[in-house]
Formats: sequence, structure tokens, C-alpha cells
Amino acid sequence: MISPLSHCHPFLVILLSILWILATVQAQGNVSLGDFLSANDENIAWQSPSGDFAFGFHPIQDEEDQFLLAIWYAKIPDGTIVWCANRQNPAERESKVELTSTGLVLKDPKDRVLWRSKSLNNDTQASHAAMLDTGNFLIASRNSGNIWESFKYPTDTILPTQELDVNGSLLSALTERSYQDGKYQLRFNEGSLILNRIDMFTGKPYNNYFILGEGSRLIFNQSGYIQIQDSNGSLINLAPENAPTDPDSNYYRAILSFNGVFTFYSYPRNPGGSESWSAWWFRPKDICSSFVDSTARLGNGPCGYNSICEPLNNGRPNCSCPPGFSFLDESNPYNGCKQDYTSYPEDCNLDGSTREEDRFVFKSMQFVDFPFSDYGILQPATEFECKQSCLLDCSCAVAILQDPTLSQDGSGTCWKKKLPLSNGHVNRETIDRTSLFKVLKSDASKTNKNPATPNPNDENQNQVILILGVLLGTSAVFNFFSLAAIFLIFFCLYKRRLRVFNGIPSRRDLETNLRSFTYKDLEQATNRFKEELGRGAFGTVYKGELPSSFGNCVAVKKLGKFVQDGEREFKTEVKVIAQTHHKNLVRLIGYCDEGEHRLLAYEFMQNGSLSSFLFGVLR
Ligand SMILES: *[C@@H]1O[C@H](CO)[C@@H](O)[C@H](O)[C@H]1NC(C)=O
Ligand SMILES: *[C@@H]1O[C@H](CO)[C@@H](O)[C@H](O)[C@H]1NC(C)=O
Ligand SMILES: *[C@@H]1O[C@H](CO)[C@@H](O)[C@H](O)[C@H]1NC(C)=O
Ligand SMILES: *[C@@H]1O[C@H](CO)[C@@H](O)[C@H](O)[C@H]1NC(C)=O
Ligand SMILES: *[C@@H]1O[C@H](CO)[C@@H](O)[C@H](O)[C@H]1NC(C)=O
Ligand SMILES: *[C@@H]1O[C@H](CO)[C@@H](O)[C@H](O)[C@H]1NC(C)=O
Repeated sequence: MISPLSHCHPFLVILLSILWILATVQAQGNVSLGDFLSANDENIAWQSPSGDFAFGFHPIQDEEDQFLLAIWYAKIPDGTIVWCANRQNPAERESKVELTSTGLVLKDPKDRVLWRSKSLNNDTQASHAAMLDTGNFLIASRNSGNIWESFKYPTDTILPTQELDVNGSLLSALTERSYQDGKYQLRFNEGSLILNRIDMFTGKPYNNYFILGEGSRLIFNQSGYIQIQDSNGSLINLAPENAPTDPDSNYYRAILSFNGVFTFYSYPRNPGGSESWSAWWFRPKDICSSFVDSTARLGNGPCGYNSICEPLNNGRPNCSCPPGFSFLDESNPYNGCKQDYTSYPEDCNLDGSTREEDRFVFKSMQFVDFPFSDYGILQPATEFECKQSCLLDCSCAVAILQDPTLSQDGSGTCWKKKLPLSNGHVNRETIDRTSLFKVLKSDASKTNKNPATPNPNDENQNQVILILGVLLGTSAVFNFFSLAAIFLIFFCLYKRRLRVFNGIPSRRDLETNLRSFTYKDLEQATNRFKEELGRGAFGTVYKGELPSSFGNCVAVKKLGKFVQDGEREFKTEVKVIAQTHHKNLVRLIGYCDEGEHRLLAYEFMQNGSLSSFLFGVLR
């Protein structure tokens, strides 16, 4: 292992100085009347005694100067939020939350109240408040008893020791990154615990798309089991089914995700294990089919109109567009798809001046169906008849064919569907039909667009330690590095006479040999940042694919605003990383520095996480 003092590498200096900034989070046992927190970069929060949870202002990713008043896991690098007060009402910089005798009050810089903790009885006065190790923030009253606790007002998450009674509910967030109110709800209804979608305009519930169980209380017990208590008081285990639970070595949480899936997650308390939340249990098992099978079918599936939904093995829906369609909103695949041409009436060949065969081709897909949107059924029908009928019919966007050879009486069936297509889903076991998409010929030829592939001729790749956000495991390590950071910064600044920070290029800067990617390159390589590998305080890491000489898979780190301050710092950092050589280090392949976008592309570590490697080395 490198001895820090003898090498005193500039990258280490930058890294440690970042850790130092994080170390300013304050632990505090008891919150007294008049105590307050401000929304700014100082990162001061009220922590639980163990330091597991923190209460305070959490910056909103992708939104500059916007903060949530939230509770989050303080020891997990991505600071997973478990509760928040002002989802619909983000607080701007220098907003303030204060403990007053009536409870917590959140005010913006102009002193307007954004949120206050509800109190059951206005006569009881608060005496103090505390962030507990369970993740519950409570406000105690003078004459004992609590006047408010965050566990009674859950957002989308419940934690061990938390319960929901018949009046309790969870409401999902709108998207993966936004904490705004979303459209899925978990609640009790007529003796059942159900999942339903709500109408975004009135807030009224639609029919349920899933029933979790019968009962009147949802309990997440201290050992990590999620249970429903029925009217006789007996408990029925929901999650994690028969898997063993071990709360001493894992964090647990259950969340109604933005995509409508209720998921039980665990995360190892001690660093060295996997570096992300693992989904152990989720309902519904097939979110795509659940909207089709249930009484909620008149709505649409989780992927929006004209899309195809396929459940992944972690329960999440994978949304894609059929041939001839593309996403309405490239940055949000859950918003549905649009047809690449206007079918009716603009593009309708009413006068018969062109042959439809010359204009359209059919692209077929197996195991896909769009229930409930057919307007014509032909039976019996051959494949030729089915295609011909759809081809000559302006309204027809897709025809679904039941293969004649598969049906018992040897006759096929053809369902003609018009836009918008709804509830499109994949099921390899139950759907024995072929979808035939009518695609305009010009579109068909251009659908074959490959991601722009950068030139893979860099042999001399440089290597780097990818430690950011990983070392935050135990407070001992943390404190050690904080101290080491201060020492090293001064020592190294002196020794190197500000060589790193004054931006004077050294000779080796010219040899870094890194690829400069465009933002578009990396966006395509990661399939629009689809698969998240992990999230840290400084950005999010996504899995991507680049051509073979890079080893195919890459990890693309999209740096957050936090590290985006200034062109020069970023360039310096890239140079410094590029100059670092070590046989055990992950290769930095390239970077993108385009406008507001700052990204780093690393070699993808196939065999597990970096923290396991790092903590092995450090011990
Ligand atoms: C917090 O303050 C209350 C009242 O002042 C006191 O009773 C309690 O012991 C304090 N708790 C801690 C952990 O200091
Ligand atoms: C307590 O006071 C708030 C505003 O000051 C009011 O909206 C609320 O209805 C009161 N609650 C009770 C139980 O009196
Ligand atoms: C639920 O709300 C109803 C109506 O507000 C109330 O009567 C009932 O006591 C509540 N139940 C529980 C368990 O709090
Ligand atoms: C939680 O539930 C499990 C499964 O029913 C049970 O074995 C365990 O004792 C319970 N733990 C607590 C603290 O009640
Ligand atoms: C709950 O009570 C009802 C009647 O009150 C009874 O029919 C039912 O069998 C009981 N269920 C259990 C699990 O004991
Ligand atoms: C999602 O679906 C698309 C289209 O079918 C497929 O290419 C992609 O690999 C799927 N993603 C995952 C993570 O399975």
C-alpha cells in the first residue's frame, strides 16, 4: 500500500479534502428549543446517537439551490432519504428549520412558513426533540409524551419499528430522482392492504392493482420482518418471506417506489459488502401484468401509452418502445412512447395513390400483447390476411396474431389495434401471440441507429483509485481520514508549491492519453443513464457499454453539482487522476467536460464492488 506521506499524491490530497468537507456533519444528542439548521453547503445536521440517521437539509440532485427537509442514512454514501417534509415545496438556500415550542417550523429566507409539524393538541408545548437511532425524529412535550414523530407521517418509506395503521399510507415519489408526490399509493381499504394509483389531478384513488394482504395494521418489526396484523391480532409475515434477517449487520427499509413496486431492501451496515441496496422481496411480482389482470385495467401500465413493459428480476419495470415508436421524453422512459409518423389522417393514403406495400413494412415481436385496445377482430385469419387487413387500414397501428398452428382448431385470430396502445407488456410464459407493428419504410431503415462509438485506440490507459464516497464506512476510518486530510493538505501544498492547484500544466499532462467524450457519447453508452450502479455524495455511477478494446463495460460517473464548481478544478482533477499509476487500480478511460456536464468513464469492475477491495487493502 502506498505510504501517504512519502508519495503525497495530489489525487489523494483532493480526495481527502473532500472527505474533510463531509466530516463537518455534526452529531447532536438532544435538540433544544431555539435550535435551528440552515439550508446551505455546510452540511450540518442533527444526527442520531449512533450516527446512522441524520435530520436536516438534503440538497436535491439536479436542482441547484433546492433542499429537502429530510431524514437520511448518514453512513451510507448516497444518503438514502427515508422521510421528507416538503416534497411539494422544496426549500431554497438559506431556508431555516427551527424547533419552537409549537414544534418544528420550516421557513424560507423571506420568513414564509413552508412547513410545520402538525400537533394534535395546541396546548402542549414542546420541550426538546431528538433524532433516534431507529430513524424516527420525535418532538417531546413538557409533560412527557410526544407531540409529533416522523414515523407517524411517512412519505414513501417505512423502517423497522415503524407501523402503519388503517389511516396510514405511503405515497411514491414521482420519478427516480424527484421526491415530488408520485402516483402510487399503499393504503388500507376495507380490511385489505392495497396498492393503487391515484388521479394526479384530484388525488383520488383508482382501483387497486395489487392486494398485499388482509388486515388493519402494517408492522415492520425490529428484527426486520414486515407483517400484517389481521382483525384477530395474528400476524402474517409478508417480507422477506423465509429469508433470514439480521438487523445487527444490515439496514432494512421498505419503499413504495416511483414505479409502483413495494420493495424490501437491505444494505450491509459494515463496509466491505456490496455497495448498494439489494432488493429481497417485492410486490407485485410482475408490475407490468398486474395492471392487466386487476380491476385497475382501465388505467395504463407503469410505462405509459404505446410502450412495452417487461418486469426485471428486481421487480422494476423495463420500459421500451415498439418498432416505429420512440420515447416521448428521452429522459424519462416511464412517460410512454410516440409513433414516429403521423398515422391518421395526415399520412392516410385515402385516394389510393400509393401502394401501402410500398410505404409500410411489418416488424414482429414475440410474447408481447396490448390488451384492451383492439377495435377489430378477424377470425379465422392467416398471417397474410392479418397483415393485409392492417396494412390497408389507416387506423391500424399494430395487429396481434394468434398463430394458427398453435390454436386447437387450427384457425388463427387477428386483433387490430389503434393508438394509443395501452398496457403493452411482455410475458414469455403466458403470451403466445405475435405483435406485427406497421412501420413506415423510411422509419424502418433509420431505426438501426448504433450508439456513436468512440475510437478505441488508446493503449496507454492510466489507472486510478476510485475511492470517492466509499471510505465513509466507519467513523473511526472517517475521523482518521479527516485528520489525515488536514495534515496532508498543508504538507503537500507546501511541498509541491501549489503545483496542482495553480493549474500550470506539467509535462505529463500532455501524455494523459485520455479520451474526451461528448456528453452524447456517454449518454448513448449508458442507454440514457438507465442502469444505476451506485450513488455517492459526488455523483451517480451508471453502467455503460463502449466498444471492445475498452473491455465493453464501463462505469460512468456523472458528477453532481457539488464537484462541478469551476472548469479548472475539474480539469485538474482529471489530469491528476490520469497521472496516477498502480497495478491494482481501476482504469480511467476518459472524461466528458461539456457545458454543465462533467463525467468520468472508468473500466467496469466485473467482480464486485470497490469497497471490498479497498477495505481489504486498508485493514
Ligand atoms: C434531552 O433533554 C431532556 C429535557 O431537557 C432530558 O430529559 C433528556 O434526558 C435529554 N436527553 C439526552 C439524550 O440528553
Ligand atoms: C393548532 O393550530 C393550528 C394553527 O395555528 C391550527 O391550524 C390547528 O387547527 C390547531 N389544532 C388544534 C387541534 O387546535
Ligand atoms: C382513523 O381515522 C378515523 C376518522 O378520522 C378515526 O375515527 C379512527 O379512529 C382512526 N383510526 C386510527 C386507528 O387511528
Ligand atoms: C419479528 O417477526 C419475526 C417473524 O414473525 C419473529 O420471529 C421475531 O421475533 C419478531 N421480532 C420482534 C422484535 O418482535
Ligand atoms: C379470526 O376471527 C374470526 C372470527 O372472529 C375467525 O372466523 C377466524 O378463523 C379467526 N382467524 C384466525 C387466524 O384466528
Ligand atoms: C430492457 O429492454 C430492452 C428492450 O427490450 C433491452 O434491450 C434491455 O436490455 C432491457 N434492459 C434490461 C436491464 O434488461
